[in-house]
Amino acid sequence: MTKTWLITGTSTGFGRELAVQLATQGRVNLVASARKPAELDYLDQYDHGQILKTQLDVTNESEIKATVDQAVNKFGSIDVLVNNAGFGYFATFEESDEHQTRAMFDVNFWGLVDMTKAVLPTMRKQRSGIIVNLSSIAGIKGTTALSFYNATKHAVEGVSKGLQLEVAPFGIKLMLVEPSAFRTDWAGRSSLKAVSQINDYQQLSDQRIAGRSDSDHGQSGDPKAAAEIIIDQVENHGNELPFHLPLGNAAIDSGEKELKATLAEYQKNADLARSADRPAK
Ligand SMILES: NC(=O)c1ccc[n+]([C@@H]2O[C@H](COP(=O)([O-])OP(=O)(O)OC[C@H]3O[C@@H](n4cnc5c(N)ncnc54)[C@H](OP(=O)(O)O)[C@@H]3O)[C@@H](O)[C@H]2O)c1
Repeated sequence: MTKTWLITGTSTGFGRELAVQLATQGRVNLVASARKPAELDYLDQYDHGQILKTQLDVTNESEIKATVDQAVNKFGSIDVLVNNAGFGYFATFEESDEHQTRAMFDVNFWGLVDMTKAVLPTMRKQRSGIIVNLSSIAGIKGTTALSFYNATKHAVEGVSKGLQLEVAPFGIKLMLVEPSAFRTDWAGRSSLKAVSQINDYQQLSDQRIAGRSDSDHGQSGDPKAAAEIIIDQVENHGNELPFHLPLGNAAIDSGEKELKATLAEYQKNADLARSADRPAK
């Protein structure tokens, strides 16, 4: 049976590249969603009856339900869910505004959770499915002036770790995609910026903002290559799907460094850790 992919946030960036490549290949049914459906006109050239465009803000419960219902009614299954929608917030911890921080959590974490909850009953019934969660290297390590963005992606990693164990018996797998900096709209128009500034953090903020505007769409990561890799992993390596998929030189280098440092710290403190267990009285 033809597989069905459902992708959130396909107006630009990774989501759009995935949609374009899947639509061009024409091997799968594609449910491409976006907050503004007019942003999906680029798909009209692929007129092969295997594409469904839906309006979907991942913070909108009724739009989530409508997208999932339409997908199942039209194609009969949802085999791959790509939780891609998300954005950044360039602010240090103390400069972050609670309203903006919660708005980011609503999309990056709760939007992903609500989409997954809406799709899981279909996947459990099928006894198969793959959920691809767009995390980030910020889900593995910390980065200055992105504290709460780090937190959203660490939350995505945490919930995925538990969920993968819970749904494995139903033939459902998860893959966390952990890119470093890629040429999408993420660093530019998509990200929120701090509304208030604290002098002590000026240098960190200036570095972050300068880095962001200098590199907007000049990053080394190519979203086309990322989409090719993600599609290939899902279609051709489903049996040995990686749970962590770092993408980009900076992702693999800084991720390895972080994980090695964590391992070294664990090993250094192993005796101390073990000394906290005492026989129960
Ligand atoms: N680019 C990077 O360097 C990088 C690195 C690591 C991880 N990521 C992650 O990759 C994912 C995709 O981002 P991107 O890099 O492709 O950036 P992007 O070009 O800015 O794309 C983000 C997509 O998310 C959508 N979106 C935002 N809020 C939404 C909501 N409430 N409901 C539905 N869709 C929403 C945007 O839609 P609109 O057009 O309506 O705004 C857009 O389609 C994100 O989760 C991001 O955190 C990116």
